[in-house]
Amino acid sequence: MFDLNKITRAHIKDIEAYSSARKEYEGDQGIFLDANENPFGQLNRYPDPNQKGLKQVLSKQKGISEEQIFIGNGSDEIIDLAYRIFCTPSEDAALSFSPSFGMYEVSSRFNDVRFIKIPLDEQFNINFQTIKESLENPKLKLVFICSPNNPTGNCLDANEILKILQSFQGIVFIDEAYIDFSNESSWLEKLDQFPNLIVSQTMSKAWGLAAARIGIGYSSKEIIALFNKVKAPYNLSQLNQDAAIKALNDPSSFRQNLNKIKLERSRLTEELMNIKIIKKIYPSQSNFLLVKVDQATKIYQALCDKKIIIRNRNTLIKDHLRISIGTKSENNALLKALKELS
Ligand SMILES: Cc1ncc(COP(=O)(O)O)c(C=O)c1O
Repeated sequence: MFDLNKITRAHIKDIEAYSSARKEYEGDQGIFLDANENPFGQLNRYPDPNQKGLKQVLSKQKGISEEQIFIGNGSDEIIDLAYRIFCTPSEDAALSFSPSFGMYEVSSRFNDVRFIKIPLDEQFNINFQTIKESLENPKLKLVFICSPNNPTGNCLDANEILKILQSFQGIVFIDEAYIDFSNESSWLEKLDQFPNLIVSQTMSKAWGLAAARIGIGYSSKEIIALFNKVKAPYNLSQLNQDAAIKALNDPSSFRQNLNKIKLERSRLTEELMNIKIIKKIYPSQSNFLLVKVDQATKIYQALCDKKIIIRNRNTLIKDHLRISIGTKSENNALLKALKELS
C-alpha cells in the first residue's frame, strides 16, 4: 500500500516551513508595518504567498478543494519540487519515457537523482510490462508520465497508466500540460482514487499565459501541504496571480482561442499532407504537430533563414520536426515556405 510517510524524505518531514509576514497576518486591510516593505509605490507589497484568490477560482472551476491545489512558478517548479520532496540525492531514482518532455531528466540531474529512461514503443506508447520490474525497486520514488506527450502529441494508454498507479508504491506524476487540446479526459477525475497521484497542468499553453509562469499541481491535501512547505515563500508574483485570475474569469476568450487552434491543427495537418518533403504527420492531441521529413536539420535551417522557427527534434527522433500551431497567417507562411523547399 502507498505510504506517503515512507516515501517523503525524512528531513523534509521534520523541517518547519519559513513563516513569512504575509503568512502570519493574512488580512488585506490595515496599516502594514510588518514586512519591511516600502510604503510608496504600486508594486510595493509582497504577493499573497498562498495564492488564495487564484486557488478559489480554480477550485470552483475544477471542483477540487483549495487544499488540493498547488501553484508553481510554471510546471517546471512543480517538477523540481517533486524531486526535492521525494528523492534523496545520490540514492533515489526517477523513471520516465523517451521521447518525452526534457525537464524530467534535466531536473533529475540538478537534484543528483538517477534517471531511468524507458523507450516508448513504435506507436509512441507505454507498456506496463517494460517497467514492471523497475517499479519494484524501492529506490524508485517518482514516475513521470507526459500525456498528451511532448513531442509526440499522443495521449499515453490509459489502461497502462492505470496499472502503474495501482502497483507503484511511489509518486505517479502525470503531466497534462496539453490536456485542454485533447479529447481524452483528465486524470484529475481519478485524484480521490489514487493517493500517489499528482496531476500537473499549466496556463502556459491553452490559456496563453506562458509569460506569467502559472503551473498547477493537483494531489491529495497531504502531498500539497509538502509542496507548500518546500516552495519559496513568495514563489508567484502578484502581477502573475492577477493575470491568471483575469484569464480564468474569461472562459469565452479561452474557448474561442482553443477552438481556433484546434481548427488550425486540422487544417495544417491536411495541408501538410500535400507537401512533398513531409513524409508523415502524427495525429495530435496537443497544440503542435510532429512530422517526419527526409532531412530534418536542413529543412529546419532553411526555415530559420526565412525567419520561421520550428523545433528540430532530430536528435530525439531522427528526421522529425515539431511544429507549434500558430495563427492562420503564421501557418500559411509556414506552408508557403515548405512548398518552396519541396
Ligand atoms: C509536457 C510539458 N510540461 C511542462 C511544460 C512547462 O510548462 P510551464 O510553462 O508551466 O513551466 C512544458 C513546456 O513546454 C511541456 O511541454
